Amino acid sequence: MKRNPIADEMAHTYDRYFQSDGYRARYPQPNPSTLDYLLRNGASEAKHILDFGCGNGRYALALLAHSRADITGYDISAASLADFEHHLDHTPDAARVRLVHGNWSRLGRTPRYDMILMLFGVLSHLGDRATRIGALSRLRALINPNGRLVLSVPSALRRRPRELMKWSIARRLGVALPPLSEQGNIYFTRHVDGQSLTFFYHLYSPKGLRAELRAAGFALEACEAESLLPEWWIAQSRTLSGLDRMASHLLPPALGYGIRVLAVPV
Ligand SMILES: C[S@@+](CC[C@H](N)C(=O)[O-])C[C@H]1O[C@@H](n2cnc3c(N)ncnc32)[C@H](O)[C@@H]1O
Repeated sequence: MKRNPIADEMAHTYDRYFQSDGYRARYPQPNPSTLDYLLRNGASEAKHILDFGCGNGRYALALLAHSRADITGYDISAASLADFEHHLDHTPDAARVRLVHGNWSRLGRTPRYDMILMLFGVLSHLGDRATRIGALSRLRALINPNGRLVLSVPSALRRRPRELMKWSIARRLGVALPPLSEQGNIYFTRHVDGQSLTFFYHLYSPKGLRAELRAAGFALEACEAESLLPEWWIAQSRTLSGLDRMASHLLPPALGYGIRVLAVPV
């Protein structure tokens, strides 16, 4: 299969992010509200969970402690999986985890997962719309008929206004090359430990997310604001995450820092 250049760029970016320890420092734990959401929506009873774009396993490690599921962690960043593996060494549940780097075929070919996760922007990183729908369709083929997909993506109304404006102007001027020629797609750069890390993102509206899920054979069952405050505030403070949980119930999904959805195969 043809290599997706965005995937190569993101693997390089995330390798450097995880090697620097910047990711763990910024997001030392999962968002407690999303972890609860997973447990309330099938993770406690699931037999096999796929955490697609698992990173260093901040969700998978927490799920291990709260469920009996076997967990497959998949990522394109080898450094993220090395960090995950390092933390597995300290858990008695390591035997329930299988880590897969890059190679989709090792995820299986037939439905086998009761729950698939794509948390905190993984879908946004994959590339243009066709690539994102292609990936969702492949995951659709791996999910059990009664399985559930839970994902969260950045909201276009809350994130990266400057980059959205910059690439929107570039499109109008006809100088944005694919995949930046597509509305909602951006690059942005973050400085971590003296390094410049550049990320590709598609920023979502609830409507756009629903349409992509539908095109891949999923029906959206629930859609909500994941949080009001930025993820890193919540991941670093129990107090803020508690307050945020109350506030985010009042927000329409599009105004969440992230949009969190539950989808089922149709
Ligand atoms: C923002 S991090 C989220 C990690 C984890 N889900 C969490 O919540 O901490 C995005 C993750 O997506 C992974 N990723 C990016 N592009 C990917 C791709 N094409 N296939 C699989 N994983 C990818 C990155 O390596 C990174 O670990």
